[in-house]
Amino acid sequence: MPRPPMHTLDAVAALRQTVRDWKRQGLTVGLVPTMGALHEGHLSLARAALAQADRVIVSIFVNPTQFDNPSDLATYPRTWDDDRRLLADAGVHVLYAPTVAEMYPAGFATHVSVAGVSAGLCGAHRPGHFDGVATVVCKLFLQSQADMAFFGEKDFQQIHVVRRMATDLDIPIRLVACPTLREADGLAMSSRNRRLAGPERDQARRLPETLRDAARRIAVGDSVAAVLAQARERLVAGGFAEIDYLELRADADLASLAHYDGRPARLLAAARLGTVRLIDNMSVPTKA
Ligand code: PAF
Repeated sequence: MPRPPMHTLDAVAALRQTVRDWKRQGLTVGLVPTMGALHEGHLSLARAALAQADRVIVSIFVNPTQFDNPSDLATYPRTWDDDRRLLADAGVHVLYAPTVAEMYPAGFATHVSVAGVSAGLCGAHRPGHFDGVATVVCKLFLQSQADMAFFGEKDFQQIHVVRRMATDLDIPIRLVACPTLREADGLAMSSRNRRLAGPERDQARRLPETLRDAARRIAVGDSVAAVLAQARERLVAGGFAEIDYLELRADADLASLAHYDGRPARLLAAARLGTVRLIDNMSVPTKA
């Protein structure tokens, strides 16, 4: 049977009406929030949503309030025509792409700020970033009334922030964390990768390589401090100009770990190659 065409909506009212109709039919709704410039990682989230929900909404909204740096916002890749085609081909039911004025109408004055898990890591290096994320994701959850929402583990701290926000605000939605998709050389898929210029693209693979090796050494009992210091040196030698952070944190609550005690943990890092800031994380393997 031919698939029904994907609908593109840009207004909250139209989205609510569509979701109301679906819910009246007893259908479940999955949401995949994105900022566009879609890649295979986003499509894997859409596919996970299509496997678990009867109807799937993918939102594309380059959210100005989560950019701490105006030039990052200005140069954020925008690939609207390709994005639309990819989502339609994937079988997504609704592409929701509100304008900035629809999301933040004149007089908008409310912000969601999540304490605790927003501190440190990206929160320490991108002031206001997680307030912007929590605010827009809260709005997307309320606008879509989705039953479940799908996020990639590459943004591991973001998942913690969003989960805390939804729990604290009693938003009835199930969060599904999906594994990071990687390029053939191990680089985590990211919309920002297309801004890597010339040799930077090749240097970028050193981030996952370094994290993977460091995670293996921590798993076999090497000193966390020594492993992190050597990993930093390796990244700098590999061309990374600035390392915002490289830390070992507990999976469950992002607690900072000076020593590895066997509980599920991962290394998280953010580092810059030229003007491009890359983030990644790697679990400490439980069987080394
Ligand atoms: O991960 C992202 O692309 C964004 O932070 C999100 C969740 C779509 C909110 O703008």
